[in-house]
Amino acid sequence: MANDKEKRVYGRRTGRPLNQGRLEVMDTVFPEIEITKDLLTEEGNRSAADIIGKLTKQTWLEIGFGNGEHLSGLMRRHPDWGFMGAEPFINGMSAFLKDIENDPHDKIRVLMDDAMMIANSLAEDTLDGIYVLNPDPWHKKRHHKRRIINQENLECFARILKPGADLIMSTDVPDLAEWMFTHAMVHKSFEWTGSTKEDWDKKPEDWITTRYEEKKAKGADKMVYMLFKCKK
Ligand SMILES: C[S@@+](CC[C@H](N)C(=O)[O-])C[C@H]1O[C@@H](n2cnc3c(N)ncnc32)[C@H](O)[C@@H]1O
Repeated sequence: MANDKEKRVYGRRTGRPLNQGRLEVMDTVFPEIEITKDLLTEEGNRSAADIIGKLTKQTWLEIGFGNGEHLSGLMRRHPDWGFMGAEPFINGMSAFLKDIENDPHDKIRVLMDDAMMIANSLAEDTLDGIYVLNPDPWHKKRHHKRRIINQENLECFARILKPGADLIMSTDVPDLAEWMFTHAMVHKSFEWTGSTKEDWDKKPEDWITTRYEEKKAKGADKMVYMLFKCKK
């Protein structure tokens, strides 16, 4: 199991008290799809089937899924694919579980903790793609080291992504956009799929919009989309 050094979740894990419906799904749906701690390891040798419990056509990881609108949208769009999601905030986790309680949920597994505990557990060339959508910005300079996109984590993503797999990131925070883009650009295993500024501003076709994105997109800030391929 990952030790405390590997567990890096900053910020709140709880907010407003959960209503009855949300409490119920935490008791019923959550245990059905939770990635239990015995599956987490520092060995980096878990297959997608180890985590999901079956072989699936493709396997994707979403990091920090918030209320899970994007993840549930993906599940409905691709019922044959397997998904892993991490969200340490119980309010987000319970909102996602409530949303999918009546959907088939045999190909989704979730962790209510640091996404890197899943990422570090996975074997080389496991994933078809990773989504990092609107990660926490950690504006203060002394907190920049908390940002989920950093060279150490990108190194791990490069290991667990298949050759040609996708790393898809978005943010509406200009300084963070530059940070995420530069970190991925300088990493030898990631190649930007775009070529002009329009590719950066343009919402990819079939994009599933999250509530966070809708709320923020109305403001002054502008969402950017960064699509990278893993090359090795
Ligand atoms: C700004 S919210 C965005 C939520 C969602 N991706 C969206 O676009 O609506 C960032 C989320 O990342 C989660 N988060 C922060 N650190 C994390 C970590 N180490 N692993 C997984 N999730 C994390 C937070 O709890 C929060 O819900």
